Amino acid sequence: MDKLVIRGGSPLLGTIRVSGAKNAALPAMAAALLTDSDVILENIPQVRDIETERRLLAAMGAQVELGYGRAQHRTTINCRNLANTEASYELVKTMRASTLVLGPLLARMGHARVSLPGGCAIGARPIDLHLKGLEKLGATITQEHGYIEARADRLQGARIVFEKITVTGTEDLLMAATLAEGETILENCAREPEVSDLAALLNKMGARIEGAGTHMIRVQGVAQLHGARHRIIPDRIEAGTFIVAAALTGGDLMVQGCDPSHLGVLLEKLQECGVTLHTNGESVRVRSDGPLKATDVTTEEFPGFPTDMQAQFMTLATQAEGASIITENIFENRFMHAQELLRMGANIKIDGRRAVVRGKTPLSGAAVLASDLRASASLVLAALVADGETIIDRVYHIDRGYERIEEKLKAVGAHIRRIGELLPRRPAVSATAL
Ligand code: UD1
Repeated sequence: MDKLVIRGGSPLLGTIRVSGAKNAALPAMAAALLTDSDVILENIPQVRDIETERRLLAAMGAQVELGYGRAQHRTTINCRNLANTEASYELVKTMRASTLVLGPLLARMGHARVSLPGGCAIGARPIDLHLKGLEKLGATITQEHGYIEARADRLQGARIVFEKITVTGTEDLLMAATLAEGETILENCAREPEVSDLAALLNKMGARIEGAGTHMIRVQGVAQLHGARHRIIPDRIEAGTFIVAAALTGGDLMVQGCDPSHLGVLLEKLQECGVTLHTNGESVRVRSDGPLKATDVTTEEFPGFPTDMQAQFMTLATQAEGASIITENIFENRFMHAQELLRMGANIKIDGRRAVVRGKTPLSGAAVLASDLRASASLVLAALVADGETIIDRVYHIDRGYERIEEKLKAVGAHIRRIGELLPRRPAVSATAL
């Protein structure tokens, strides 16, 4: 299992490029299930979750070409001949967003069998709202042996009010509604840029969607969709992670190829902390040389402060003067990184959904364990300012969503390298030998 070895203390200087958004690419790939023609997606990030989605679609019989490098991070997906309509536990358990295939499969094929995602490191994360919505569109849903089975002849347009705002839930139902008969009105929708990006792709495929990016989305169902070519938006969480990294290390970094309009509250919070930021159409320049000041943040749905930046912001708070209160409103159990930050010297007290971080405390390098995708990013950031060497284990979490993170950070001055398994595994002792 790979590890990252990081020696702290170097400011990040230069230009770093942001990849395509994993969370926009995943629903876009699932949208290819809605048509029998080619869907060509550009700016696909080279991360493990995308490979998992490729395997998921390929297991159904889809043809998925993934080309990186000179191929411009392009994927061409063709779902003309789908041999089955199942998303197996093996794949769903490693990536909960696999449930995004439910809506499109049901809408085009009339059937979907998708494993229940089960518990995950950041709370229960149910999919009840996806299922209730699909039932409203006329699906019959049963649950057996850990799988959800959904059937429908043709989905029927309906009015669906989400009890709670859900990003992939909105995307799943949006995809299903494109091929439903008649009009669907989705209310209390997620307004994340990734939802708008999906709607833009679907409209290019011939869907009739209005209102994406607002709380109410209207979809006029069509009989079929056709192929399209689409460029995925930049990853706002990767961009935010680099911006925080520069702020923490007292660097001067140009974060290139992002969309600052997707980073609103994060940038405001960083300015409150004393970080100097300059934005233009597609870059953010970050400069930080003075002391950082404590600031409170509360995670909310877009356009609020993103939960996917909470862990990284907590690392920043450990280096800010004063007490920062961080409130996590979206997920339960999303403070696992705090345990590891404590081991590196942070002062953090957790009380339910609130964390109080008192700074500034020096951090010192340690052996730490990545527990989920964004938690691992927060540990990389901590390591960049820690005294001495930090070894981060279970790097596969970070590889799920960050493209070549060590290469990108190294190019702007970080002392970071990846190592494989250090020692040969001990031979397993069989039960009979005991
Ligand atoms: C998406 C993002 C993830 C991000 C999250 C919140 C993708 C692939 N992942 O995850 O990176 O952290 O949005 O911005 O885009 N809920 C229910 N029932 C449901 C669905 C959700 O109760 O059927 C709850 C969840 O438990 C959670 C909240 O709603 O408390 C928000 O979850 P949701 O927006 O659905 O997150 P994801 O779409 O899974």
